[in-house]
Amino acid sequence: MARNKIALIGSGMIGGTLAHLASLKELGDIVLFDISEGTPQGKALDIAESGPVEGFDAHLSGANDYAAIEGADVCIVTAGVPRKPGMSRDDLLGINLKVMEQVGAGIAKYAPNAFVICITNPLDAMVWALQKFSGLPKEKVVGMAGVLDSGRFRTFLAEEFKVSVEDVTAFVLGGHGDTMVPLPRYSTVAGIPLTDLVKMGWCSNERLEEIIQRTRDGGAEIVGLLKTGSAYYAPAASAIQMAESYLKDKKRVLPCAAALSGQYGLSDMYVGVPCVIGAGGIERVIEIDLDGDEKAQFDKSVNSVKGLMEACQGIAPNLK
Ligand code: APR
Repeated sequence: MARNKIALIGSGMIGGTLAHLASLKELGDIVLFDISEGTPQGKALDIAESGPVEGFDAHLSGANDYAAIEGADVCIVTAGVPRKPGMSRDDLLGINLKVMEQVGAGIAKYAPNAFVICITNPLDAMVWALQKFSGLPKEKVVGMAGVLDSGRFRTFLAEEFKVSVEDVTAFVLGGHGDTMVPLPRYSTVAGIPLTDLVKMGWCSNERLEEIIQRTRDGGAEIVGLLKTGSAYYAPAASAIQMAESYLKDKKRVLPCAAALSGQYGLSDMYVGVPCVIGAGGIERVIEIDLDGDEKAQFDKSVNSVKGLMEACQGIAPNLK
């Protein structure tokens, strides 16, 4: 059986980290693509040279021509520009929308059967545009946000409670932005919901709110520290988990920006919801009951995503 082929469209900070992680996990052969000449080739060679040391078998190559992604099983898209301090993800919209148009055309031509994971921000609007530009089936085009956001939430909760991150699960809904909706009653330590842990005196409601706010601001916290770009280790790890679930048909239940077709009363848009990822791509969107407050927060998040979609349509009327 031929090895899987993983195409990384964008070979910057996240793209390089994706290539490294996919190699270490032997998920398949890897093609790094970028418009910057030398960058994908240099990163591919550097990582390939770590293969004998780490003991992984993966063929890595770099390219500036979309023909190199031909027949890819998975495409992970990070092409575009990242945030600088003071910028919101939404400030990236104009530039990155044009990038999505080029990427969509490249994928449509050379990898129409791929499972496509978009990471480029502002995420929910970019993955929506990428699906339209590429014309690929909606269940094969998905955005990475919820795994990262819940990873951040889990990290902060584990630190707060002084327990292993392995025993903390977290549930985050909505758009990948300041309006994301972390859900305490579906987030647990070893199965005990956070709402119960508050009753048990593990932390106060106020403290939990602070942790939730830190999760919402998690991306900005890293941008503020790095000053020259945005997070890349955790975003790359999150997308690799999604790719692995697809390639190995694991049917992991992961929060993803998925195309909705009636779930949560929404359609023709992408927003963060729990999904099953298997060999069919997004095989199922899980619809949970939201209480009044959660629903209000979710609606606010959905409206902010809709605002970004309208801004995209203002720039690219063919997205209607
Ligand atoms: N086609 C292909 N690659 C492109 C294009 C394009 N039209 N435009 C830019 N790129 C490449 C850049 O040359 C660069 O190598 O995309 C890469 C982006 O890498 P970084 O600037 O290092 O950004 P990164 O940190 O990887 O983040 C990428 O993911 O999380 C989001 O907000 C983040 O939108 C940003 C994206």
